[in-house]
Amino acid sequence: MLQKVIRSAVIDAPIDRVWAVLRDFNSHDDWHSVVQKSRIEAGRDSAEVGCVRAFTLQDGSFIREQLLALDDNNYRFTYCIVEATVPLERYVSTVTLKPVTDGNRTFWHWESNFGTPPGRERELANLVATGVYEAGFASLRRHLEQGADRRIKGHSPMPMALPLPSQRIEIEAYGGHDVMRVRSAEVPAPGPGQVRIRQRFIGVNYFDIYLRRGSIPDLLPLPGTPGMEAAGSVIDIGEGVSGLMPSDRVAYMGPLPGAYASTRCVSQDWVIRLPAHIEDQVAAALLLKGITADYLLHDLAHIRPGQRWLVHAAAGGVGLILGSWASRLGARVIGTVSSPEKARLARDHGCDHVIVTGEYRFADEAKSVWSGGADVIVDGLGDAAFEENFAALAPCGHWISLGQASGAPRAVSSELLVSKSASFSRPVAFAYVATRQKLAERADRLWAAVADGSVKLPPIEPHSLAAASRAHERLESRQTTGALVLTV
Ligand SMILES: NC(=O)c1ccc[n+]([C@@H]2O[C@H](COP(=O)([O-])OP(=O)(O)OC[C@H]3O[C@@H](n4cnc5c(N)ncnc54)[C@H](OP(=O)(O)O)[C@@H]3O)[C@@H](O)[C@H]2O)c1
Repeated sequence: MLQKVIRSAVIDAPIDRVWAVLRDFNSHDDWHSVVQKSRIEAGRDSAEVGCVRAFTLQDGSFIREQLLALDDNNYRFTYCIVEATVPLERYVSTVTLKPVTDGNRTFWHWESNFGTPPGRERELANLVATGVYEAGFASLRRHLEQGADRRIKGHSPMPMALPLPSQRIEIEAYGGHDVMRVRSAEVPAPGPGQVRIRQRFIGVNYFDIYLRRGSIPDLLPLPGTPGMEAAGSVIDIGEGVSGLMPSDRVAYMGPLPGAYASTRCVSQDWVIRLPAHIEDQVAAALLLKGITADYLLHDLAHIRPGQRWLVHAAAGGVGLILGSWASRLGARVIGTVSSPEKARLARDHGCDHVIVTGEYRFADEAKSVWSGGADVIVDGLGDAAFEENFAALAPCGHWISLGQASGAPRAVSSELLVSKSASFSRPVAFAYVATRQKLAERADRLWAAVADGSVKLPPIEPHSLAAASRAHERLESRQTTGALVLTV
């Protein structure tokens, strides 16, 4: 829930004297009793808009705040929390001073808006109102009475970009899962239109394996870092960015790899803010796979009640999301999986019938369940299932070739398709989120489907970023169910 805290006080000192202290964004460890030690990052000036102060409180809390605006004419400045161990979300605060003509004193107005985790609203609003603002008024009064503001604090004005250290996975040669290495790197400040994100969870997709193997070298030149999606919080934003602020909880998916990293700059067009009910881990596990399910259902196959869907790898990341969503929308779903355990899970997530086959033999069984075959086939298997897929397709059916876990699919001839009056698609998720608005619409629909139970959450298997190789090994040896994430 959004909180608004407002406090004000009259300080017995002229406005210019009070302002001289407060406009220095790094002065608070001199005068505020709860602030222990503060410094301005990257040697910037403490009155420079955009500078970040990093400080600790007496109770050990750590906070980074960024100066967003400074108005000397109106004695006002605004700042926000970029990172904090205290759970204040989207915290933005403004300090305004006004002269009190009676006695040449100063009226100090301090207000903020922020979100809090459920159940902690009162506690955190109280902390800000009394522990920070009222204690601040008292502290500054004391500071001025003692004349401590006459001391001058040194600055070293050196505005510059702020590179941040990061860990990332690097591939120097295409190959098996063991070609992935952890490397240290610096991530520069975000460029125009970019946001820099501290990533907490990174989504692992089968697509990352194609990149690692060198199936799409143009997309991952060497050395390169795989990964198409992640979730975390915004550290800072570049010029021209709108609708996103430092400390926002966000997730992204984008058409250029590089997500296997602890910090990354990405285009604002790839990024969405997360609603409170979607945790970071769930967002990283679901965003790309859930948006894939969304465009399959709503754009490509135009789902309708009674439609017959054959979904391969039905216990995998995309498979479980798609199975539960399609079934909630009234489709009948047959899944294929390679083990009885996977079959149980697929049934639990909406499949009416599950075929257990490790060798891509499913057409006869599918046609014995539905005499005509499947209206829609969602095929992430590729080459090894080519003939079976065509055999399982109903007249006028739609074969959607989504991926190639068993190898690149061969070309489909028009003669083959015309023999069943069938259609064939070879879509890529990123084309369906090509604009910021499209991405936001699809993500909203996905989160709503999670909230109302249409999408039943798949199991999520976490691995550390350094263990990305192990995650790939498990995914490509068909050992996993649900979605995999890397944790930072
Ligand atoms: N085009 C797009 O927009 C788009 C977007 C997302 C995903 N995809 C595709 O959708 C498919 C599923 O992706 P995902 O990330 O959710 O992966 P996943 O389904 O969690 O994992 C892949 C699954 O494929 C099955 N599989 C069958 N033959 C395999 C083989 N030879 N090697 C490895 N696995 C094999 C395995 O399930 P069983 O053991 O049960 O058979 C395995 O668990 C992939 O093909 C991916 O490329 C496409």
